[in-house]
Amino acid sequence: MNQFMYSYPTKVYFGEGAAKQALPQELGKYGKTVMLAYGGGSVKKNGIYDELKALLEAAGKEVVDFSGIMPNPTYAKVQEGAQLTKEKGVDFILAVGGGSVVDCCKVVSAQAMLGEDIWDMEYGSGKFPTAGIPMGAVVTASGTGAEMNAGAVITHEEKKWKGPIVGTAAAFAVLDPAYTASVPAMQVLSGAFDTLSHAMETYLGNSDQDNVSDDVALAIMRNTVVNMRRLLTDVGDMQARGNLMWDSAMAENGILKVGRLTDFQAHQIEHQLGAYTDCNHGQGLAVIHPAYYRHILKDAEQKFTRFAKVVFDEDTAEGGLDALIQLIRDCSLPTHMSELRSKVEITPALLREVADTCNIIKCNPRELSRDEIYDILCECM
Ligand code: NZQ
Ligand code: ZN
Repeated sequence: MNQFMYSYPTKVYFGEGAAKQALPQELGKYGKTVMLAYGGGSVKKNGIYDELKALLEAAGKEVVDFSGIMPNPTYAKVQEGAQLTKEKGVDFILAVGGGSVVDCCKVVSAQAMLGEDIWDMEYGSGKFPTAGIPMGAVVTASGTGAEMNAGAVITHEEKKWKGPIVGTAAAFAVLDPAYTASVPAMQVLSGAFDTLSHAMETYLGNSDQDNVSDDVALAIMRNTVVNMRRLLTDVGDMQARGNLMWDSAMAENGILKVGRLTDFQAHQIEHQLGAYTDCNHGQGLAVIHPAYYRHILKDAEQKFTRFAKVVFDEDTAEGGLDALIQLIRDCSLPTHMSELRSKVEITPALLREVADTCNIIKCNPRELSRDEIYDILCECM
């Protein structure tokens, strides 16, 4: 194990009725004005908005709405939110949604306390925020684990870049599987694939052979696959949704990453594909992972073989990759670029730009060249 320091800022309330338990317990610590932040309106249709607003009002809070946070949240939306917090004197932010809403709010929180542009500060000066408006996260679609860390992924449309930006970690997170009941099946499975990807990408980073983090990551992967398959039989299986919700959190709360390096090359490629196309994150990963893994299978054969055995009961590295591809097919997740939602036509020229601009992970399991990334992307066409 490499050296590490592990500390965790987010209190988690998991299970049925978690919001009713968490909000009265937590809200007393914060000021009167609460920004209730959400996406395109699912929370209004499924009743979650009304339930949370009533809990906020019962706690004596004044509620300011911040709505319309889009999937793959933009930097412009972050600035809109930060402006609103200043105008309304917001004391606390309650982010209600999937990874997009939570990520947007993390950066709104930090930007609101800064006298400078947070993007320029982080990307230009290499400085990171040390303060933010306190926030909580109510998860309505699981998969990203965004509620369990301070990192956000934001699309800067003018710069044609989708990338990480450090914001504020939620002080508490509400994980009630029932809140995911109305998520469309395809989004549930895309989210679950994202969780699987986080655990695979962590596991494939260099580590000691007997690193405990590998064992935990493999357990999360196996549980994620088992419960994805359970949803194929019954998409409303709340036990499976609950397992996936905690798998999602576990994959991104830092536990799997202690004492080791991580890979996350597939994520770097997908994020930049997202910057150009606005594709769904989990679905972009489902398209990219098999092609990427075909390229690096021999560079981490032992690890892929162990992954095959533990996660899919297969004997060889190739068998494990085939099983991963079969899972993607069985879940009806996209297998080619042409099946992705995209705001523009995906052409070889566009893929060249993605390959030329995405982050390259320097070491794990092997550093790719930009030409190889382009080849991987073309194999996904
Ligand atoms: O906007 P609304 O109307 O709420 O609809 C959303 C959205 O269209 C819908 N949805 C959410 N809860 C629902 C629901 N529909 C019905 N019932 C509910 N209960 O789901 C759609 C997708 O939501 P979104 O938040 O975009 O999905 P996801 O959770 O997959 O988040 C994706 C974003 O997170 C980033 C991704 O890059 C992407 O921008 N990620 C964040 C990470 C992090 N911070 O740690 C790690 C990940 O690797 C990832 O990059
Ligand atoms: Zn992800």
